[in-house]
Amino acid sequence: MIKPHGSDELNPLYVEDAAKRAELLKEAEGLPKLLVSSAAAGNAVMLGSGYFNPLTGYMNVADAMGVAKEMKTTSGLFWPTPVLNVVKDAGGIQGAKRIALLDPNVEGNPVLAIQDVEAVEEITDEQMRFMTEKVFRTDDMEHPGVAAFNSVGRFCVSGPIQVLNYSYFEKEFPETFRTAVHIRKRMQEFGWEKVVAFQTRNPMHRAHEELCRMAHEALGTDGILIHMLLGKLKKGDIPADVRDAAIRKMAELYFPPNTVYITGYGFDMLYAGPREAVLHAVFRQNCGCTHLIVGRDHAGVGSYYGPFDAQSIFHEEVPEGALEIQIFEADHTAWSKKLKKVVMMRTVDDHTKDDWIFLSGTKVRIMLSNGESLPEEFSRPEVAQILMEYYQSEAAKE
Ligand code: ADX
Repeated sequence: MIKPHGSDELNPLYVEDAAKRAELLKEAEGLPKLLVSSAAAGNAVMLGSGYFNPLTGYMNVADAMGVAKEMKTTSGLFWPTPVLNVVKDAGGIQGAKRIALLDPNVEGNPVLAIQDVEAVEEITDEQMRFMTEKVFRTDDMEHPGVAAFNSVGRFCVSGPIQVLNYSYFEKEFPETFRTAVHIRKRMQEFGWEKVVAFQTRNPMHRAHEELCRMAHEALGTDGILIHMLLGKLKKGDIPADVRDAAIRKMAELYFPPNTVYITGYGFDMLYAGPREAVLHAVFRQNCGCTHLIVGRDHAGVGSYYGPFDAQSIFHEEVPEGALEIQIFEADHTAWSKKLKKVVMMRTVDDHTKDDWIFLSGTKVRIMLSNGESLPEEFSRPEVAQILMEYYQSEAAKE
């Protein structure tokens, strides 16, 4: 199986031993407490799950700046996005060497992890702007990722962590939330060596479905890992439980058994386009995938990124050999009325705009809210039905 990023073995930061976890939870009672941001909590879950291997905790400012500048920590490790624990007020942990991190996303703010504090540094305006522009390619506060990154505070609390649970993800998505450790183990049991991962934050329409099929066939993979984001999204994106149900229905009806493994990871969407695509590649390598599909406007939002910027970054900025996982570059894919099937647009040269069926996310939302069915060429009817029920129930609440 493909090796994890940066080490021979996966070193997840979740404390596996139950007795040790109980001991640490006991210790946490007496430690200074810090309520972390949702982004920092997501980082802890990813570190705990082995997805952020080989990181051992939250970065300091120098590492985060190096990562923002050239995707490298001060020790030379390739890493595409800062992994930070930033808060507005670090007064309550002044001088503390060891602290308990409280989860902002679970009622009662239970302890999520214990951190050894190596430094508490104030990030300057200039550093903040630099990181924002490098990671997001914009400093526009209308960009949801930029807004989230810039709204958590300025005090950067760095150092290694021990993770004590997986926040709300295990409880809310018991069938779907999986760690990198678990995924590797399962794929080994399936006998899958060559695996293509599909990142998604959306329900899968026919273009998504076909992309998976095309990659699977073109690469000759043993299986497809559908790996969905289960954390926070911007307003208007479809909630994870609805998306999960729609994806499971699609796979059940339209893929042969044992070709698709549906799972999810606990992280908030960054909407960082190209940089997030690289992060996606890192953590798919960590869960044992040999390939990742990167299509049109991967991890993008609005019109902040060019449609294929998330592919070019792998050629232009990711150093040779930095990652072992390979990218399956997909062109814009849609239903061709002429060919009566979903195809990648670059594979045909005799089509005009009217020969394609395209629907924007906004159009899909309007149609479903109005109770109009989606065209079968765009969405499988069983998938459309699940989405319709969700939109209708939302409309009824208004
Ligand atoms: S993402 O933010 O998680 O990337 P989404 O779930 O919409 O969003 O996309 C999942 C993957 O499918 C990404 O690699 C994206 O580039 C690709 N993709 C989605 N729609 C299309 C399409 N019509 N043509 C080509 N690639 C697409």
